[in-house]
Amino acid sequence: MLNNGRTIPQFGFGVFQIKPADTAEAVATALRAGYRHIDTAEMYGNEREVGEAIAASGLDRGDVFVTSKLSNASHRPEDARKAFDGTLDALGFDYVDLFLIHWPLPTRYDGDYVSTWRTLEEFYRDGRARSIGVSNFQPHHLRRLHEESEITPAINQIEIHPYLTQDDVRGFCAEHQIAVEAWSPIAQGLVLTDPTLDEIARRVGRTPAQVVLRWHIERGDIVFPKSVTPERIEENIEIFGFELSGEDVEAISALNRNERTGPDPDQFDYIPG
Ligand SMILES: NC(=O)c1ccc[n+]([C@@H]2O[C@H](COP(=O)([O-])OP(=O)(O)OC[C@H]3O[C@@H](n4cnc5c(N)ncnc54)[C@H](OP(=O)(O)O)[C@@H]3O)[C@@H](O)[C@H]2O)c1
Repeated sequence: MLNNGRTIPQFGFGVFQIKPADTAEAVATALRAGYRHIDTAEMYGNEREVGEAIAASGLDRGDVFVTSKLSNASHRPEDARKAFDGTLDALGFDYVDLFLIHWPLPTRYDGDYVSTWRTLEEFYRDGRARSIGVSNFQPHHLRRLHEESEITPAINQIEIHPYLTQDDVRGFCAEHQIAVEAWSPIAQGLVLTDPTLDEIARRVGRTPAQVVLRWHIERGDIVFPKSVTPERIEENIEIFGFELSGEDVEAISALNRNERTGPDPDQFDYIPG
């Protein structure tokens, strides 16, 4: 349950780095396998194909939770309004379940992500974003929103995997009733050859990817692995028929090295041309 009373499936499908031409097929495969939560973004360039796959699936719109995110190019309020209209148009929907500020960009826009957030509050109030949140926000960014705006983000989507457990940000979010989503949950494959994970996977009769995804679920985070490979799409959702022991969860958390695979949110300043 989110802090606004809405619910979100804890498990979903991410479409970052899936080419537009491959997206509809990957999303269709995921929906057939039982995924009911899709995570896209304007900057992924595949919102249209996500919407097409959902429309073609025969599922009701209300059966699939869809997230999109504001482009780094559109933080100014008037640009954000246009961008959000564009997102709904590309998806072919009259609402999104969740809309996020993709990156805080503290070195851009005169460090002003607050007016951007207030613009997302408009989309929440008019009902076109059922929930709103942020991505890649550090506690000090969240604290500023708390002081200078009205609505607490429902979600903070951040990089989390066994080599980057993000205890500080997760602790801050727990204290403020902000649900945490883990992006790059298997570190784009980097963690899958770890000997500790390999040992646990062999012992519980699962794959390393399943063990890592199950670890996220047991820590309470929301997770949406990406794959274009049908067997992996099925493998990744088969994580609800087993549990990890408390010791195994601890052992995986102890792999933390504070090692990012993606950019540092305080430095990242990419703006698409
Ligand atoms: N908010 C943000 O800034 C942000 C940043 C990054 C990601 N995200 C979101 O988080 C989602 C997931 O993160 P991600 O795509 O970066 O990385 P990921 O899900 O950690 O890893 C995806 C990679 O792992 C491979 N893979 C998937 N399942 C596997 C399995 N069972 N065994 C072996 N390899 C497997 C995939 O290969 P194949 O596709 O070739 O099968 C792909 O190369 C994204 O799609 C996106 O929705 C958000």
